[in-house]
Amino acid sequence: MTTKDNPLWSPVIAGLSPYVPGEQPKVADLIKLNTNENPYPPSPRALEAIREATASGLRLYPDPDSSALKTAIAENYGVSPAEVFVGNGSDEVLAHAFFGLLQHPQPILFPDITYSFYPVYCDLYGIQRTLVPLDESFRIRINDYLRPNGGIVLPNPNAPTGCALPLPEIRRLLEANRGSVVIVDEAYVDFGTESAVGLVREFPQLLVIHTLSKSRSFAGLRVGYAIGNPSLIEALIRVKDCFNSYPIDRLALVGAVAAIRDTAYFESTCAKVIATRERLVPELEKLGFEVLPSGANFVFARHPQHEGAALQAKLRERKIIVRHFNKPRIDRFLRITIGTEDECRALVDALREIVG
Ligand SMILES: Cc1ncc(COP(=O)(O)O)c(C=O)c1O
Repeated sequence: MTTKDNPLWSPVIAGLSPYVPGEQPKVADLIKLNTNENPYPPSPRALEAIREATASGLRLYPDPDSSALKTAIAENYGVSPAEVFVGNGSDEVLAHAFFGLLQHPQPILFPDITYSFYPVYCDLYGIQRTLVPLDESFRIRINDYLRPNGGIVLPNPNAPTGCALPLPEIRRLLEANRGSVVIVDEAYVDFGTESAVGLVREFPQLLVIHTLSKSRSFAGLRVGYAIGNPSLIEALIRVKDCFNSYPIDRLALVGAVAAIRDTAYFESTCAKVIATRERLVPELEKLGFEVLPSGANFVFARHPQHEGAALQAKLRERKIIVRHFNKPRIDRFLRITIGTEDECRALVDALREIVG
């Protein structure tokens, strides 16, 4: 008997293809440009708040409503706490949104090339999906989404392409699609893309999802949130309270509040990442790479003469790790996280050796 037919499992389990996260290497001396983490540490104020919180209170459960965090997020975006949901990473927020808002008779729509967790949630919850192909320049075409659906999920910027949609295009989709939920996953929005948060009051079907993993350097803390109409938020709260009453622990709670409030630190680290990206792109182009336009903290690039998998392997020999997806249409590409200036210089030097 293989584990695949273990009769002790619930039947749905054997058919699942779980999400495969990027490598978290067990050795320390690698330049890690493979999972879109921020190269800079979290806000010092957040670290101080966490240190203080470890001194007391850990024997007690955290606030199940994460009220202080919802208030900090609400103040940051000029919405009310009733329009905010928080979860253990935006992956959990997305999972609850798929469960609570996207289980309808019609298939949901999302791009054929996008964040690979979306199909996993569909399989887990039995949600039908229709994949909408990106155009030949790897862009989302809003016109392709103007059709009957059980919901729409769009990352903006998209991952792993990094390509962003301008806000008027998101508005056009919302105006044409009022009868089902539209989720805009803005995991990378703070690196130069316009957010749709300002549209949530106008469009009650819109849910915008953010994470602290990227622009607030808190991938290790696991905090994400959604902003939308209180009735969408209520659905997410119902799912959460049927699953885990305390998704945000005490340390994450105080750390996230301080990180959200430290606007100056947030803006300066985002600006540094964007500036490094803008310096890296022409360097890659000089080496012959085609780089898709990025509004994110990573770039998606391919070389006309070199296979993506081979480039990834050769970079790894030089102790630099980047992400490669062995998938149709994108198997020649590398997804490269924007690191520090020094890390990106080392990357360009290594690539010059390899392709030059
Ligand atoms: C498009 C997109 N959405 C959501 C996430 C999840 O982020 P987290 O669960 O760390 O908040 C990621 C992570 O890489 C992502 O790429």
